[in-house]
Amino acid sequence: MASELRIGLIGIGKLGSALLAGLESRAAAQGLRVKGYRRGDSLANVGTDHDVLVVCVKPAQTLELLRQIAPQLGAQHAILSVAAGVKVADLETASGGRAGVVRVVVNTPAAVGHGVSALIAGRAATSETLRRAHAVFSAVGTTCEIPESQADAVTSLTACGPAFVFQILEAFTDAGIANGVPAAMSLDLSVQTLIGACEMARQTKRPPAELRQQVTTPGGATIEGVVALERHGLRAALIEAVTVSAEKARKLGG
Ligand SMILES: NC(=O)c1ccc[n+]([C@@H]2O[C@H](COP(=O)([O-])OP(=O)(O)OC[C@H]3O[C@@H](n4cnc5c(N)ncnc54)[C@H](OP(=O)(O)O)[C@@H]3O)[C@@H](O)[C@H]2O)c1
Repeated sequence: MASELRIGLIGIGKLGSALLAGLESRAAAQGLRVKGYRRGDSLANVGTDHDVLVVCVKPAQTLELLRQIAPQLGAQHAILSVAAGVKVADLETASGGRAGVVRVVVNTPAAVGHGVSALIAGRAATSETLRRAHAVFSAVGTTCEIPESQADAVTSLTACGPAFVFQILEAFTDAGIANGVPAAMSLDLSVQTLIGACEMARQTKRPPAELRQQVTTPGGATIEGVVALERHGLRAALIEAVTVSAEKARKLGG
């Protein structure tokens, strides 16, 4: 197959194994050949054996690993790094400056194929580099492109975001239990309600305020709850959570 994409995945931990499984499942249909590299595997031929290298080791190990393989890398390669907080210019320098580099802000739902991956292109990245990055990360969810100036805000929204959603899910579940719904059923119904509401927003593309108005009958039960959430500052709390996490991500990134 002339356009077969040869992908090397370095670091098969939590994220790497999800990516490997996602890529292997679509390898035949999409003309991908994937190989995973675990600690101790030789990296001596990764440059000749692959067009795309996805680096999935811990952030503190990423630049050292790139320096190690840099002599093998050229303009024909796409280097994709998922390391949280490691800037694209540092990735480019460590990988020798010739290869197309993409920093990817990815989140934990990638482990179940529902991740969000935001791609940040380095200076030497071409449209082909980005095409390859979309091909790899669409195996574990949706992809988009952002400038690095938005990386901290997007990190807070998508990478920290699942923690905020789990907190909401916990509270929703407790609310059901407090009102007499058995615990397991309350969790199940809460999960399905959150998924269903988000799926409705995704499919209809209607603004959330409009969808909310559709379930708030004047003088009805739902508006009572909506007013209670406003009184207790749900909106302000979520905006502040994303804002302080973005500020912290900015400080951690240096
Ligand atoms: N987990 C997520 O959902 C998630 C979300 C966003 C971003 N990320 C990013 O993804 C990266 C990996 O995170 P993770 O949670 O998957 O970490 P992890 O589970 O610790 O996986 C890292 C893997 O890399 C291996 N490794 C280290 N050095 C290596 C080498 N020289 N050659 C081959 N393999 C090597 C490690 O092996 P050993 O265990 O033997 O050290 C480990 O299996 C990080 O940069 C993180 O910022 C992860």
